[in-house]
Amino acid sequence: MKKKWITGLTAALFIAGFGISAIAAENPPDALLMNACTKCHDSKKICNNLGKKDQAAWKSTIQRMVKKGAALSSAEQDAVSLYLFNLVPNSEPVCPKGK
Ligand code: HEC
Repeated sequence: MKKKWITGLTAALFIAGFGISAIAAENPPDALLMNACTKCHDSKKICNNLGKKDQAAWKSTIQRMVKKGAALSSAEQDAVSLYLFNLVPNSEPVCPKGK
């Protein structure tokens, strides 16, 4: 009886853990960005700022965009600001190819 309960708990934890890693894998920062940040303007606006803002500046830009309506959780804002800070200028997908 007790054993069954433990098996059930292990299965539940396994499913929960798998669910969380699946969400993280489905939402890498570049996908989040291209989805949430191109609703009002194209990513050229973001591209133009690569290499110019430090992470704190990106974070505050993103927070401003969230106030306007960008849909990103606070963890996602951190992930995207770190991603943008580390992105080399003219990188795809933020900067369209050949521009
Ligand atoms: C609800 C509409 C909206 C969404 C969604 C949005 N933006 Fe903006 N963004 C604007 C508007 C309007 C401007 C121009 C006015 C301004 O700068 O406040 C702008 C300007 C910018 C600028 C240029 C100005 C600056 O401060 O460098 C950058 C960079 C930028 N957005 C990045 C982003 C990023 C990154 C995201 C995703 C987190 C995003 N935007 C999502 C509306 C939006």
